[in-house]
Amino acid sequence: MEDFQSLRAARATSVNADFSEANPAAASDEGQLHITAATSNPRLFTLPWSTPLSQWPDDLLVKLPRGISRHIVRFVQVGSDILAMKEISRSAAEHEYEALRQLRKLDIPCVEPVGVVTGRSSEKGEPLEAILITKHLRYSLPYRALFSRNLRSDTADRLVDALAVLLVRLHLIGFYWGDVSLSNVLFIRDADQFGAYLVDAETGSLYPRLTDGQRNYDLDLARTNIIGELMDLNSGNLLPSSVDEVEVGNRLVERYDMLWDTLTGTESFGTNEMWRIEKRVEKLNELGFDVDELDVKTVDGGRRISVRPMVVDAGYASRKLLKLTGLDVQENQARRLLNDLDGYRASTWRQDQDEEIVATDWMREVYEPTVRMIPPEYQTTVEPAQFFHDVLTHRWYMAEQIGHDVPMPVATNDYIKTVLPQTQLDQQSLAEINADADAGVIDDDSVADIPDDEFGSRGPREEDDDQDAAVWSTD
Ligand SMILES: Nc1ncnc2c1ncn2[C@@H]1O[C@H](COP(=O)(O)OP(=O)(O)OP(=O)(O)O)[C@@H](O)[C@H]1O
Ligand SMILES: [Mg+2]
Repeated sequence: MEDFQSLRAARATSVNADFSEANPAAASDEGQLHITAATSNPRLFTLPWSTPLSQWPDDLLVKLPRGISRHIVRFVQVGSDILAMKEISRSAAEHEYEALRQLRKLDIPCVEPVGVVTGRSSEKGEPLEAILITKHLRYSLPYRALFSRNLRSDTADRLVDALAVLLVRLHLIGFYWGDVSLSNVLFIRDADQFGAYLVDAETGSLYPRLTDGQRNYDLDLARTNIIGELMDLNSGNLLPSSVDEVEVGNRLVERYDMLWDTLTGTESFGTNEMWRIEKRVEKLNELGFDVDELDVKTVDGGRRISVRPMVVDAGYASRKLLKLTGLDVQENQARRLLNDLDGYRASTWRQDQDEEIVATDWMREVYEPTVRMIPPEYQTTVEPAQFFHDVLTHRWYMAEQIGHDVPMPVATNDYIKTVLPQTQLDQQSLAEINADADAGVIDDDSVADIPDDEFGSRGPREEDDDQDAAVWSTD
């Protein structure tokens, strides 16, 4: 906590707005409305901060799927941004804000913190909890949303594989999470895999180095939580019957251990086996990591060599693609795109030409014309690099079926017509997911206890009359 606090002082970019003049109710209370935000978007300052988040007007809200949470979370359109608002205690909001800023600085995939609003009070002067603001993570989905669609039977495996990578990356930089679960992660499609992003850093802290005990605690908790979350999906008939919850939980531990050992373990071999250094680096590259620093020394009186990666960086392929094309995409997407670029280079007989020039032509002739075909109604939910990957896969199946190559525009059109509509979340599933997400909310706003139907009970929020249907609807 102290680490985060001391860093706050150094953050001169934050915009502070004190609303005590504009909002006398706030001024008369113990606190004054105080917004610390890493944005100067003026619309942020006009939001109804004196209203409990659960009662914010529908016309401000954007209905996108949310994961299960104890706190109230809502998505709000602010100018061109969609922001996630979470109502929590002031200390938790400030801690999480700093934790997320630290993680982003260290290049960890997590949601982007935007600000903290404290000193809120209602029109009547009753104190309200603070709000943590983060940027809605574009194209991401909570795990329950993934299971509400017809996905491959190995979806659970692929989710824990992604979570294992995230957990290893967090532990490598010394972040102890303290609350690892599928609900605290957002998933983004990454070619045939998923990428995992941390969304809930409330319980986490950064240490110079984690002990094995800390790492094991996080790992144990992750395993237990995953098994519980999958069992919960199963009881709602959302899990394919072939999935064994305990096996998936154990898989996380196996994947984590394998990754951790490959990334940090010391290997030793005879001086005549120097090729094993290169092999170790290749294995790390295959796992998506780059070696920045390798510790190589002789042991056993010079008879053996010992090798240990000192500094590893995730994103091996994505950095290469970024350098060549300026495209910033997920790791497995980058591999697929780099492969396609290689294919293009070979098919146009340009192996001897500068890689960057060929990449520019590939962008202009292949990639851009394809992603420009994404219909406008899908543009908020379909990520271009993933679309390109899915079209390539579709094109391969088409070619296999008809026995010859299919031009990209033909494959793209067919994909848009036959596959794309099935990938979208329908309104009813969205409403169910968000009702589930709210079921565990501890809402201690006094006003929120007022019954809002004639039977005197607080029914789930009505999510069906959706004002932003365009975000998810396919027609
Ligand atoms: N920036 C964001 N982008 C997309 N989704 C978000 C974002 N912030 C929150 N969410 C959604 O809201 C859900 C709840 O957020 P979060 O886990 O931070 O709440 P919480 O109440 O602290 O959870 P817990 O019960 O684990 O303490 C997440 O699972 C996610 O689906
Ligand atoms: Mg959470």
